[in-house]
Amino acid sequence: MLVLKTISEVRQAVAQYRKHGKTIGFVPTMGALHDGHISLVKRSFEENFATIVSVFVNPTQFNNKEDLEKYPRTLQDDVNLLQQSGCDIVFAPEVEEMYPQPDTRQFELGMVAEVMEGKFRPGHFNGVCQVVSKLLTITTPDKAYFGQKDYQQIAVIRTMLSKGYVPEFKGELVPCPIKRADDGLALSSRNQRLSPQQRISALTISKALFSAKDKVKDGATANDLRKYIEDTISFDSNLKIEYVEIADKDTLCSTNDLHNAIICVAVYDGDVRLIDNILL
Ligand code: PAF
Repeated sequence: MLVLKTISEVRQAVAQYRKHGKTIGFVPTMGALHDGHISLVKRSFEENFATIVSVFVNPTQFNNKEDLEKYPRTLQDDVNLLQQSGCDIVFAPEVEEMYPQPDTRQFELGMVAEVMEGKFRPGHFNGVCQVVSKLLTITTPDKAYFGQKDYQQIAVIRTMLSKGYVPEFKGELVPCPIKRADDGLALSSRNQRLSPQQRISALTISKALFSAKDKVKDGATANDLRKYIEDTISFDSNLKIEYVEIADKDTLCSTNDLHNAIICVAVYDGDVRLIDNILL
């Protein structure tokens, strides 16, 4: 496995694979890798000749300076994990390599980028699009793998691609199911920051989502579900809801029709912001 720091090294490696007609899978990450990431890497390993994983904490997608500073950085552990997971190339650039000049591009993506995360983390998706467009242009994969815990992120990236912002990328976007701990908690790099007590509180989030999904079978309406989730989560005094949204799973606009819907939540567990979702 190679660990590369520069864009030109990655481009050279990609050119070699292409010269020999080999397929490339790509998994973008911000490091602090967990089983969720590793499941994406393994899928890429199964479906492609070569797998490239980027490890880069992208500053432009953080709307909060403290959140950026506190984001876990564990490159050596990440490299060790990737070594055993079928990764061929780790691309771990410094900020100056990715942004030799400030990236001033603005992506016009409409409502999909304005609701939920877009509303509560202004500028976040623009930063995601800046870095993902660069990474896809550098790696030009056949398939790029994204976890559905960040469901809205996938919808935003799909919109960015369909609007022609990344002409160099001709591959496929592959959404992959959320990976959960045995007790239901959605895996996230941010879970590392939870205290044992916060880790217990966090469970309330996934439990509320699972029970809400069950209630649909019993005829619950969107309003019933929203209220149930809000009440269940607020009952735990460690948790503070940012949003509970029932949205159309394609447009991500708020809906009361549960047939094509997803429930998305963002919750502060102490000072750790967690997101989760469930498709209905
Ligand atoms: O989902 C993430 O970890 C990040 O948003 C991504 C896609 C790696 C871009 O920085």
